Amino acid sequence: MASASRGQWSGKFGFILAAAGSAIGLGNIWRFPYTAGENGGGAFVLIYLVFVFAIGVPVVLSELAIGRKTERNPVGAFKALVPGTMWPWLGGLGIMTGFAILSFYAVIAGWTLSYLYGAIFGTVGDVTTAAESGAVFSALIGDAWLAPVLSFAFILLTAIVVRGGVSSGIEKASKILMPVLFVVLAIMAVRSVTLPGAHEGLEYLFKPDFSKITIGVVVAALGQALFSLSLGMGAMITYGSYFPEKENLPQAGVIVAIFDTSIALLAGLIIFPALFSAGVDPNGGPGLVFVVLPTVFSQLPAGHLFAIGFYALLSIAALTSTISLLEVVVSYFVDEKHWSREKATWLLALGASIFAIPSALSQGAVDFFTTTGGLGIDFLTLQNNIWGNYSLSFGALMLCVFVGWKWGVPAALASLESSGHKLPASALFGFLVRYVCPVAVGIILVYIVITQQYF
Ligand code: PHE
Repeated sequence: MASASRGQWSGKFGFILAAAGSAIGLGNIWRFPYTAGENGGGAFVLIYLVFVFAIGVPVVLSELAIGRKTERNPVGAFKALVPGTMWPWLGGLGIMTGFAILSFYAVIAGWTLSYLYGAIFGTVGDVTTAAESGAVFSALIGDAWLAPVLSFAFILLTAIVVRGGVSSGIEKASKILMPVLFVVLAIMAVRSVTLPGAHEGLEYLFKPDFSKITIGVVVAALGQALFSLSLGMGAMITYGSYFPEKENLPQAGVIVAIFDTSIALLAGLIIFPALFSAGVDPNGGPGLVFVVLPTVFSQLPAGHLFAIGFYALLSIAALTSTISLLEVVVSYFVDEKHWSREKATWLLALGASIFAIPSALSQGAVDFFTTTGGLGIDFLTLQNNIWGNYSLSFGALMLCVFVGWKWGVPAALASLESSGHKLPASALFGFLVRYVCPVAVGIILVYIVITQQYF
């Protein structure tokens, strides 16, 4: 029942690049390094990797299976599979989560635009010390006008692409740029690991110190695995719904997960050696990469050019992620509420821009948002925790319960394998979806609630 009017990827390769475009973004290059830094390094990275393969991959495949079978947005998909139940609410939560993530993600993406501007017009490639770089960064994020305006600009760019529809807009942008991003990152990683003192950074990243594992570290690692793979809110349901009938879906899903994880590790290889070399504290919070990276550029030959290339690519990687966030929400209003794509895109972009304001003002510009009215956590970090960790974890948990126990693993496999391409280790997939994912994520969430260690 391929419905040509909804649009489709041009082929498996187009899907891989678009889905990798969704997965690869600020989650890998901004969120992964700073979260690893806040959570003690190696132990976090190890748990993150375990979660990627034990929970992330089965959830990717589950979401894609639902999307391919139903060819719907997350709410419509559950309505089609299990009509008259509460399950469509799970899709609804995903849509809300996508909207909320978009609103703080756009703030960080806005910072990236400003760094791109800085790289082109001179300021970014010039700083040599971490202190100078930190001063530039604080001035930017504390600016009550610039930060919100840049996030609006980013949402506007996103809306322009989403308005254009699936394959013409989204696919074209991802096709060339994701591989180029990989190459630029690899070159930067080589420079970084050869800096004086780099080995300390490598040790920090890869040598797990098990005494550092707390429930907070485990939640952060789970949230990071899901966030980075764009899971738990229906993005992969939506992207799977545009997957061409004849192509190999299981393989495409696994490739996306591997590609995404490699980019995160590559970002770690750039940030941590440079950070130890420049004497920056790994526990630097959301500003970490923005402060550390300029010190790498200043030590690269043709550093200015590298900086321009890097921030341009990072902006685009962020854009292919915000596109997927907005696309999920738009596809819901188009399919279920029968809005035109045009109307849905602009209204939702406007809403996300308004909701971005408190996050944009929470990094020093306005005290109320910097402490979230006295809660002791800034609004952006709070949003990142609530939606990026908890909501995605809850979404992934329920999705596994749905596929494992309601819809059924055989039905999911039939959808995944409908083109005749088999999923290797399909018994393992069933085991992970039915037992490992619900039990592991369930225990983590219940433990958090009982011990009230939310943040
Ligand atoms: N995975 C994206 C990133 O790493 C962010 C994202 C999360 C996109 C959830 C869609 C859904 O940047």
